[in-house]
Amino acid sequence: MKTYKLAIAGGGSTYTPGIIRSLMERLEDLPLSEIRFYDIDGERQSKVVIAAKAVISEYTDKIVIVDTTDPETAFTDADFVFAQMRVGKYKMRELDEKIPLSHDVVGQETCGPGGLAYGLRTISPMVELIDFVEQYAKETCWIVNYSNPASIVAEAVRKLRPKARVLNICDMPVATMRNMSAILGVNREDLVVDYFGLNHFGWFTKVEVYGVDRLPELREHIHKHGLLTEDISKIDYRHADASWIKTFKNIKLIMDFFPEYIPNPYLQYYLLPDLIVETSNKEYTRANEVMNGREKTLFETVKQYEETGVLSDQFHVGVHGIFIVDVTVSLAKNLGKRYLVMVENNGTIPNLPDDAMVEVPCLINADGPAPEYVGDIPYFYKAMIDQQLASEKILVEAITEGSYEKALQAFTLNKTLPSSKVAKAVLDDLIEANKAYWPELKSKYRDGVLIHS
Ligand code: NAD
Ligand code: G6P
Ligand code: MN
Repeated sequence: MKTYKLAIAGGGSTYTPGIIRSLMERLEDLPLSEIRFYDIDGERQSKVVIAAKAVISEYTDKIVIVDTTDPETAFTDADFVFAQMRVGKYKMRELDEKIPLSHDVVGQETCGPGGLAYGLRTISPMVELIDFVEQYAKETCWIVNYSNPASIVAEAVRKLRPKARVLNICDMPVATMRNMSAILGVNREDLVVDYFGLNHFGWFTKVEVYGVDRLPELREHIHKHGLLTEDISKIDYRHADASWIKTFKNIKLIMDFFPEYIPNPYLQYYLLPDLIVETSNKEYTRANEVMNGREKTLFETVKQYEETGVLSDQFHVGVHGIFIVDVTVSLAKNLGKRYLVMVENNGTIPNLPDDAMVEVPCLINADGPAPEYVGDIPYFYKAMIDQQLASEKILVEAITEGSYEKALQAFTLNKTLPSSKVAKAVLDDLIEANKAYWPELKSKYRDGVLIHS
């Protein structure tokens, strides 16, 4: 029987135990000989590995577990690498959220200026990870990447390491489909959707169950209740937090304006930014909710487990873990299953640039994702996507060129920022906060004079 060696980069993530449970549930489809946990914060990771080992021990004692901060140990001969790094951890996420909010601008980890800031921190560690994997892992190794901001990461990888086998994925479409299926009373696996966009910036255009388009039914439901069922237990515990409930409810507000398609929930930050700012607590953002919730519970669970041998949180399987395992099984077994993932456009949506990293239905086989043809998209959506794409592409140029002007262009083009004046104020505060992480951004001009080209 063929077995696989898997490395998890960002092994200290709060998502690790849940992903491990999903992997354990699928050992028949993806038999593992080794799991290597890799993180730059060894102390944090070792605690999470205690929880991971507890979950694994419920299923098998045949898998070799490695807990390491050494890339060679982690990646040598690996078949797959799951990437889930949060560069700067929650401390920096909190600043990504709070600094823009202090300027009355959307404060979010992947959208708006917070997402751009997170992008500026993540690109070089991501490139470094790819280089480690190229150096040590099997030539056929795939990196399946969740590390955010996935859209900017995808563009940077396309540009800086075009040949790398990196599949960028996001769990928001499947989480949205989980809610749709709960509303329709069907299995998520029975939904066949069409979708186009960028990551955290796209629309469902069809939701079919056994050949019948159920989007009209969902539209009516969303008009009354948002993308939520009364029975919240149908939604994974993470998305049952107050801020996520609010997000799924806001889909109603967006669709009351634009009823045609079902938006990715993250579009609330671009289409309802004023409402988002008004209803945000500038002192207590999602980072605080996560630190006081998911993160705290995880480390308390580990402490209690060490003291009593009882694992109080079972780290139930949710769409996040299910999705990364599904996609990996399809890669490993050349199954050609259809999932929404990020891929280079190359004519899939002819009226978007070929070199855009779009999120569309793809068939996933051993060579990676093959996009299904989507066709031209209506002008309104195209215009929004073009603007967001420009913001993200220029941000990547800002990093590679170390250019302050390009960073400011990227911020100005982001729809969440109302003017270049506000964009500059937010950018300057974020530069200060990110000194330990960002490349230096230099201005070409001083007092109206070109100082270097
Ligand atoms: P977390 O802070 O709990 O875990 C992230 C881990 O990454 C930490 O242990 C940290 O030390 C480690 N890390 C940071 N820089 C690293 C580097 N250079 N090399 C190796 N490890 C590094 O964060 P979390 O909330 O569990 O999220 C993990 C990641 O998954 C984040 O990037 C988050 O945005 C992403 N995520 C993405 C999706 C998606 O849809 N794409 C969904 C959920 C989470
Ligand atoms: C969704 C998105 C991810 C994002 C996550 C944040 O799953 O698809 O890209 O990282 O939400 O969730 P959190 O619970 O950390 O706020
Ligand atoms: Mn996502």
